[in-house]
Amino acid sequence: MRIGVLTGGGDAPGLNAVIAGLVTRGIREHGFEFVGFKDGWKGPLEGHTTPLNLEAVANIVGEGGTILGSSRTNPMKIEDGVARIEKNLKAAQVDALVAIGGEDTLGVATKLHEHGFQVIGVPKTIDNDLSGTDYTFGFDTAVSIATEAVDRLHTTARSHHRVLVVEVMGRHAGWIALHTGMASDAACTLIPEQEYHVSQVASWVKSRYARDGYAIVVAAEGAHSPEGDLVTKDDSVDAFGHVKLSGLADRLCAQIEKETGYETRSMILGHLQRGGSPTAFDRVLGARLGLNAADAVGEKAWGQMLALHGTQIARVPLSTATGELKTVPAARYDEAKSLFG
Ligand code: F6P
Repeated sequence: MRIGVLTGGGDAPGLNAVIAGLVTRGIREHGFEFVGFKDGWKGPLEGHTTPLNLEAVANIVGEGGTILGSSRTNPMKIEDGVARIEKNLKAAQVDALVAIGGEDTLGVATKLHEHGFQVIGVPKTIDNDLSGTDYTFGFDTAVSIATEAVDRLHTTARSHHRVLVVEVMGRHAGWIALHTGMASDAACTLIPEQEYHVSQVASWVKSRYARDGYAIVVAAEGAHSPEGDLVTKDDSVDAFGHVKLSGLADRLCAQIEKETGYETRSMILGHLQRGGSPTAFDRVLGARLGLNAADAVGEKAWGQMLALHGTQIARVPLSTATGELKTVPAARYDEAKSLFG
């Protein structure tokens, strides 16, 4: 059997570990052949391939990014997209496809499966917001990077008696913010799932400032007040209809300074959270998902996605992962709130 592999959407540390696990086990245990499709769904859409053999995956388990490249191309928005993919898979003599991605990439995989394609999904996102799996690889690395950044900001904020607002990724789900805020002892954490009131944020900041003489606020980029207005970079949207969020920290910075009278600065961590090498946890999770994806192909478990359930790698229908986002439950936020202020 000849298997096509692609990585789509925002990159996540651990993608190369998945590819290494999948290709190594697929070749050694199952006798498969692999071909890489470049830059997400753009690859099968345009017929752009790259060799994917044991040599190509040597020494990549700890490498950040993806050796296959990625994009946010949405073939469902392109005329004849499905027909073009079918034609190019045939031309590359591909029998089945392993799609490694988040909500958007796996949403396309789900639709292709409904069209009769032989597809297996592997969940990826630093945001950890995919249903059906306890954790996604990339999340642990993003939280580690953000925590280290906030740890560093503590010392400069303390020296200057300032408030520092740190913006982390998380469009619809505040997992990165929740874990970073708790790990780095933030005065408060703001997430998209729970509307914030500036007066309440100011009161948490004042209380922490009274204790420590400075304060750190961690905010997910998609957090918003009851007015619901998200802070965007510009008016553009990507092929999946997402706006580019960025700038909430600057807005909060001005609001907090006005409400508290404390000198306040902002910091947007941005793509730093996705770059560089994965933590050992993400390398192991990625590799295990890849190894198990090879077995899923061997068992022709089409339309299934690999998932982490506790410590076990399980399989769930692709539609489970893409049906509804896994957001932060109110109880988890309430638990974290006990540490605010
Ligand atoms: O990978 C998901 C994500 O990290 C979101 O939290 C964020 O809004 C988005 O990617 C930004 O990615 P890009 O700038 O690549 O579109």
